[in-house]
Amino acid sequence: MTEITPARTFTGSHAIDITDVRKSFDGKEFVLNGIDLKIPRGEITVIIGYSGTGKSVLLKHILGLLRPSSGSIKVLGNEITNLDNNQLTFLRQRYGMLFQYAALFDDMTAIENVLFPLREHRRDLPKSTMVELARERLKDSGLDEKHFNKQPSEMSGGMRKRVGLARALALDPEILIYDEPTTGLDPVLTEMVDNLIVSTHNLKKGTTSIVVSHDLFAAFRIADHVAMLDAGRVLLYGTPDDFLRSDIDLVKRFVAKGVHRELERK
Ligand SMILES: Nc1ncnc2c1ncn2[C@@H]1O[C@H](COP(=O)(O)OP(=O)(O)OP(=O)(O)O)[C@@H](O)[C@H]1O
Ligand SMILES: [Mg+2]
Repeated sequence: MTEITPARTFTGSHAIDITDVRKSFDGKEFVLNGIDLKIPRGEITVIIGYSGTGKSVLLKHILGLLRPSSGSIKVLGNEITNLDNNQLTFLRQRYGMLFQYAALFDDMTAIENVLFPLREHRRDLPKSTMVELARERLKDSGLDEKHFNKQPSEMSGGMRKRVGLARALALDPEILIYDEPTTGLDPVLTEMVDNLIVSTHNLKKGTTSIVVSHDLFAAFRIADHVAMLDAGRVLLYGTPDDFLRSDIDLVKRFVAKGVHRELERK
């Protein structure tokens, strides 16, 4: 991958370090209720949990889109809970995000979609370099060159995912975040996206990938570590093996459900 700034200067062992984070929207109920979570740099961490347990709210805190009611969130060594909007905007250049529905701009071609963040944040680059970078990101994401000038409506679901990923990679992020990347996809596409997450993660040493998923089996296939949330806390953090061996009732039920779903697929 072509190098662009901000440089990857952080060498600490945890890309994200969350201590006792609480969040209440109404001052009464806590959606996050004492989250402690250290996400190792260079690993794939999958965050799982039943619906409504606070996964997306946690992601928004990591991205600095929400501020906690209390607690500390360090991203690449920086405490982010007190940053102002300009500092947060700068920090966000070190993230790449892929949402459930790739959320492409419908009136732009594949390559224009990838050029968008470069035009926003890298006005210092000559136009030819931007185009070169965008083409490289699309190739990294496995999109065939013949599709580069197609609009989203002319592409398949899998191709759109690849473009969304290429756009997430545009600014050479150190942290890649996926919120429910495979929800609603058929098994074939699910496997393609899972494989894409792993191959993208491996493009560059030191990249940290965080995946929020309902899909326990995806978690087991791709994760170095898994964190399961329940009621705004981390119920269990461990390797996939730790989850299979866990005695915690809720973990056992979640694992059993995952196994059942996987058998149905076959
Ligand atoms: N902006 C908000 N204002 C008030 N409550 C919110 C807000 N955002 C989320 N919540 C509440 O926080 C709780 C956790 O929501 P969250 O979206 O994090 O769940 P989730 O684990 O991502 O669920 P799912 O698996 O369905 O995506 C829910 O009860 C939700 O209603
Ligand atoms: Mg969610």
